[in-house]
Amino acid sequence: MKAFRASLLYFAASSAGEVGSAVYEKDGLLVIAPDDSGRQRVVAIGEYRAVLARYADLEPALLISHFPGRIIAPGFVDMHLHYPQLDVIGSPAEGLLPWLENYTFPHETRFSSPEYNAQAAEFFLGELLRNGVTTALAFASSHVASVDALLGQAQQRGMRVIAGKVLMDQNAPDGVRDQTEQSLRDSEALIARWHGVDRLGYAITPRFVPTSSAAQLAGAGELASRYPDVWIQSHVAENLDEVAWVRSLYPKARSYLDVYRQFGLLRPRAVYAHCIHLDSQDRDLMRQTGAAAAVCPTSNLFLGSGFFDFQAADQAGFLYGLASDVGGGTSFSPFHTMLAAYYVGREGQTKPGLSLKPAVLWWQHSAGAARALGLAGVVGNLLPGCEADFIVLNPCATPLLARKTTQAVSLDELLFSMIVLGDDRLVEATYIAGVPIRLNADSPPFQQE
Ligand code: GUN
Ligand code: ZN
Repeated sequence: MKAFRASLLYFAASSAGEVGSAVYEKDGLLVIAPDDSGRQRVVAIGEYRAVLARYADLEPALLISHFPGRIIAPGFVDMHLHYPQLDVIGSPAEGLLPWLENYTFPHETRFSSPEYNAQAAEFFLGELLRNGVTTALAFASSHVASVDALLGQAQQRGMRVIAGKVLMDQNAPDGVRDQTEQSLRDSEALIARWHGVDRLGYAITPRFVPTSSAAQLAGAGELASRYPDVWIQSHVAENLDEVAWVRSLYPKARSYLDVYRQFGLLRPRAVYAHCIHLDSQDRDLMRQTGAAAAVCPTSNLFLGSGFFDFQAADQAGFLYGLASDVGGGTSFSPFHTMLAAYYVGREGQTKPGLSLKPAVLWWQHSAGAARALGLAGVVGNLLPGCEADFIVLNPCATPLLARKTTQAVSLDELLFSMIVLGDDRLVEATYIAGVPIRLNADSPPFQQE
């Protein structure tokens, strides 16, 4: 059993369809212990004295790490990003389709090589951890080697990562295009190799409608029905040229989203990035099927794709959470993503403009994202039973952050200061299953009480 004393940020349990309200304990205690299988989980959380009293008989043996002036929060959950697009970040283009053709597809061809993958996976997972992201749902490339490298290294680090081999058998160049039958056999073999092993998961990953034949989409849907607890990930309704392209490929379909329904690809644990150009029937379909949207605001602003309609999503009642979408997205930092989500919410020319509350933005990138992935009570929060993935934040990490956060008179002000001014410098340590991964060599040593 281990305990951590600091300020604590987490979310109260909430019923389906409701945002969990943020709980902040100025002087708090988090207690973790291994479960029967040896996995570290939260056993208690709350005000320092109150929690300590419950462990009074254990106190001499209870090892307490004290982080004065620091905030412990759940590790962030990134619902959608691309492992092979690390080096594609910041590649300007006229829009999604030229960006894919000129930068993304050529770059992803490199991921056929195990050597190339070995160093890229190490860097990629290091960036997630440095930024406080402890759970991710990631696209690999269309090469089996890319999944093996990413999940193999995530396993070594004890991380909860879900990934899948991209399916793309048409409208894509040599080097990333795969073959229909082989791609489906490869996906099934990868499910057997990785899904449910330690903390890893597999996601069936058709890139998007234009790059998969009808046979490949049907095969993906068939796999999804045989493996109901495997995830599905894809893209939908990101960009108007993309939407028009899908309409020309499936002129009889009611909508772009409806093509995925026809192929059996909408169900719980199906995660669709973007969901910008949807109509109300599409939004109802999302709710009815239990599919979730990964909202990718830095990507949508960078590629000029459009603005996710938070109000319409809430009215329809479908699941969604935040995601970086690296490398269309411009940052691994959940702080940058939450700030961009705030800007997208504010936009009021194409949809109603809202002022999203900072605790809601934070929830959408942690407990809310976990719920959308079907992982509520597992990650993204610090309630008893959750796995012990958490971060230690230093709200005084930069002079301006220190100036702002020490003046905050409410939780909203404190959280908003970190969302607006924060980046990887805020994240002093990331704990994976109770084990600290030190991030900054110059951060002060932890004090043991
Ligand atoms: N649509 C299909 N592939 C991609 C991709 O790699 N990134 C983004 N943002 N959209 C896509
Ligand atoms: Zn994407």
